[in-house]
Amino acid sequence: MTKLAAPLLKRLSRYQHYEALEQVPHAQGRLTRMVGLTLEAVGLNVSVGRQCKVVLSSGREVEAEVVGFDEDKTFLMPVQKVDGLQPGARVVPVDAHKNLSMGEHLRGRILNGVGQPLDGLGPVSCRAKVDLEPSTINPLHRHPIDETLDVGIRAINSLLTVGKGQRIGLFAGSGVGKSVLLGMMTRFTTADVVVVGLIGERGREVKEFVDHILGPQGLKKSVVVAAPADDAPLMRLRASQLATRIAEYFRDQGKNVLLLMDSLTRFAQAQREISLAIGEPPATKGYPPSVFAKIPDLVERAGNGDKGGGSITAFYTVLTEGDDLQDPIADASRAILDGHIVLSRQLAEQGIYPAIDIEASISRVMPNIVDANHLAAAQRFKQLLARYRENKDLIAIGAYARGSDPQIDAAIERFPHLQQFIGQKIGEPAPYPQSLAQLFTVVQSGAATTPAASAEQTQQGGTLKTAQSRQQRPLSANRR
Ligand SMILES: Nc1ncnc2c1ncn2[C@@H]1O[C@H](COP(=O)(O)OP(=O)(O)OP(=O)(O)O)[C@@H](O)[C@H]1O
Ligand SMILES: [Mg+2]
Repeated sequence: MTKLAAPLLKRLSRYQHYEALEQVPHAQGRLTRMVGLTLEAVGLNVSVGRQCKVVLSSGREVEAEVVGFDEDKTFLMPVQKVDGLQPGARVVPVDAHKNLSMGEHLRGRILNGVGQPLDGLGPVSCRAKVDLEPSTINPLHRHPIDETLDVGIRAINSLLTVGKGQRIGLFAGSGVGKSVLLGMMTRFTTADVVVVGLIGERGREVKEFVDHILGPQGLKKSVVVAAPADDAPLMRLRASQLATRIAEYFRDQGKNVLLLMDSLTRFAQAQREISLAIGEPPATKGYPPSVFAKIPDLVERAGNGDKGGGSITAFYTVLTEGDDLQDPIADASRAILDGHIVLSRQLAEQGIYPAIDIEASISRVMPNIVDANHLAAAQRFKQLLARYRENKDLIAIGAYARGSDPQIDAAIERFPHLQQFIGQKIGEPAPYPQSLAQLFTVVQSGAATTPAASAEQTQQGGTLKTAQSRQQRPLSANRR
């Protein structure tokens, strides 16, 4: 018996050290090294994610977060830009990010990543206090996505209908119209609150977005959290987390929240900077594996709350460098989001805004939340568009003879109307019922008037109405 117990006791004794460590109070440490943005301290006994302050000899304090450790060394990253750090500076654990002010007073405010106002309108004073930690929801208790959300954009409302609690990626290269589209949604949506996270944008763009794209009308019902590109990577991460936390707060109050995050790629890049700095090896295109774990961590926090509660419908912009949809971040996000909207540079160059590439975009929840007539009309729209694009070159060089294919004839006939339907001016709202009515008109009008269209419908085995009657029952009860 003793023979057996001896090795076991020996093995257990190894853990005594860790146990002892846990019992040590959160002592303060000393700064020993700084490489790039990474700080190294000794003498700290705190867990990863813990906030600390580095106290300089001048008395100035620098906020930092524990991002890793190696035996007795603790790695930290400053939350804000720092200068004047010196070896031996005291590192003291603090209880930051508790008691974040939350409430109606946040509407119309512009905050930085740690919740401080950037708009010069004084401190934010709300009664409710929350931690930055995510509010957890049992996935089995989440209310399913079964209601539509009016985002005020005609093409999205009618062809890529968004459900309350859905998470959508907005994939686009630079300068294709992401910010303008997000601004339009903020102004025209029927959501109760809009939370906008501007992560890693150029500093100049934050003001431009707030003053020109959002305007006073958009800002009134929104909360903006901004961390421009020159903020420390940790600040950019915090801003994404804070925007999500604010959205969670309003959702927990029973509100329907629209969360617009511009951009998820910059969030991933901030995480990449941190992971590489603490020595994690890069994997895909310089992104270390932990980045791909952090994206779902953030995105999964959006969605519906418990039954009867509020919802967070979220749009995350994803930059597709050189319009490359195979970018690792684009790839990873597409897999975890409930739909993607692709903005096409080609359309933008033709002056069609919002430059939504309808064929490349999809709303995965749309079939569950719209009725059969709506779905059939949207499919008809996409068929016409696809038919035209497939034969575009032939049509352009005059190699297509009218009358050869009734479906192509119908597509040629209606193509200008389809494009016009997608286009929407910056100041023009498109409420859901109106978008839907216009969709029915644009897909049906040609059908009623042109012989080519009737021939095409006969060939297809029925008119649009027949297609609808085949699906009399909505795919799911129409809950709107
Ligand atoms: N709906 C629209 N109507 C007219 N013009 C538009 C519309 N949307 C975008 N534009 C034009 O496209 C330009 C670029 O738009 P925007 O700033 O939204 O692009 P972006 O994708 O956010 O760019 P970046 O990648 O630099 O952030 C605008 O300055 C504007 O001229
Ligand atoms: Mg932009």
